[in-house]
Amino acid sequence: MAVLKVLVVDDEPGIRSGVTRILRDFHVTYPFMDEDYNFEILEAPTGEDGITVIERDKPDIVLLDNKLPGIQGVEVLEYIRERKYDIVVAMITSYASLDVAIRATRDGATDFIPKPFTPQELKSSIENITKQLYLKRITHKLNQDGKKVRYQFLSVLSHELKAPLNALEGYLRMMQEKQAGDRIDDYATHIDRSLQRIQGMRNLIMDLLDFTKIRLERKEEKIQEVNLAEIATGAIVTVQPYAIQMDVSINLEVRTDVVIMADPGDMEIVFNNLISNAVKYNKFGGKADITIDSSDTDAIMIFSDTGIGITKTDSENLFSEFVRIKNEKTRNISGSGLGLSIVKKVVELYHGTIKVESTPDVGTTFTIRLPKKPINIS
Ligand SMILES: Nc1ncnc2c1ncn2[C@@H]1O[C@H](COP(=O)(O)OP(=O)(O)O)[C@@H](O)[C@H]1O
Ligand SMILES: [Mg+2]
Repeated sequence: MAVLKVLVVDDEPGIRSGVTRILRDFHVTYPFMDEDYNFEILEAPTGEDGITVIERDKPDIVLLDNKLPGIQGVEVLEYIRERKYDIVVAMITSYASLDVAIRATRDGATDFIPKPFTPQELKSSIENITKQLYLKRITHKLNQDGKKVRYQFLSVLSHELKAPLNALEGYLRMMQEKQAGDRIDDYATHIDRSLQRIQGMRNLIMDLLDFTKIRLERKEEKIQEVNLAEIATGAIVTVQPYAIQMDVSINLEVRTDVVIMADPGDMEIVFNNLISNAVKYNKFGGKADITIDSSDTDAIMIFSDTGIGITKTDSENLFSEFVRIKNEKTRNISGSGLGLSIVKKVVELYHGTIKVESTPDVGTTFTIRLPKKPINIS
C-alpha cells in the first residue's frame, strides 16, 4: 500500500473537510500497478499557506481553488511549475471561467473539478490523477534506468579504448627517449606489442560496429532466404588463418540443409563470433566442430570445441557486454568481450535461444536454435 499526499487549498472550510472525509477511506487500485494507493489529506485555507505546506510536506497532488483571499490559485500553480515539482494539480472551480481554464491548463493543471462536487465526482477525478501520476513516475524511472545502462556502457567502452592508447603512448615515449638503445632492433618487442594493441583496438571497433548494426539497422528488405551452410563456410574461411596459427582444425557437418529467412549479415555475425571463439579459446592442435541441423520447428547450430572450457560460475554472465573471463589460460588472448553479447542480441531478435555447456579443460558447446517459421523482425 502506497500513500499519496493530497493538499486541498480552499478558503471554504466545508470543502476542505469534505475532501478529507471523502478521501480518507478511499483507495485506488489498477491491475497494472504494483500496489494500491490511499491518501493522506493536508489542508490550507490560502494560497500562501498552500505554498508553505508544499515546501514542507511535498504533496503528490494539489487540489487548488482558484478564487482565494490572497494570491490566486493560478499563481500557486505557476509557483509549482516554475520549480518543476513532481506534483499533479487539479483546479477546483466554482464557475466555469474559460480564461482561468486556459491559463491553468497552459501552466500544467491536469484536471478540473467543478464546485460543488459529489463524492463520486471527486473520487473519479482522484482515480484519474493517480493513474496519470503512476504512469508519469514509472516512465520517468524507466528512462532513468535506460540512461544508466547507456552511460555504463560508454564508461566501460572509454576505458577499453584508453588502455591500448596508454600502452602505445608508453612504447612510443620509450623509443623517443631511446630507453633501450640507439638501434631500431632494440625496440622489436615494443613494436610487436604496439602492433598487437592496435589490432586489439581495431577488433574492438569492429565489434562495436556489429553492435550498433544490430541496434540500428533493421530494414525489412534485408530479410531473405539464407542458407546457413553457406554462411558457415564463409565464416570458416575468414577464421582459417587464425586456426592455422593455432593448429586447430575446423569441421563443418551439415546434417540437413537449412534455409531460414534472415538478414545474412546477422547470421554472419553469429557464425563469425562463435567460430572465432571456438578457435581462440582452443588448445594448440585442438578441434572445432560446427553442426547445422534442424527439427520440425527450429534451425539448429552447434559450435563445439576442445578448448579451455568455462566454469559454471564464469558462464553466468557470459552474454553480458564487455564480459571476459580472466585467468591464466585467457591471459594472452585478446578480445573486446562484446562478441557473445552481440550474438545473444541477434538470437533474441529472431526469437531464438542460445545455451552453453562446458567442462573446463575439455571443451565448450554453444547451441543456437532459431525458429524456422518466418517471424516479424523489428
Ligand atoms: N568457446 C569458448 N571456450 C572458452 N571460453 C570462451 C569461449 N567463447 C567465449 N569464451 C569466454 O567468454 C568471453 C566472452 O566472449 P566474447 O563475448 O566473444 O568476447 P571476446 O572473445 O572478445 O573476449 C571470452 O573472453 C572467453 O573468456
Ligand atoms: Mg569473441
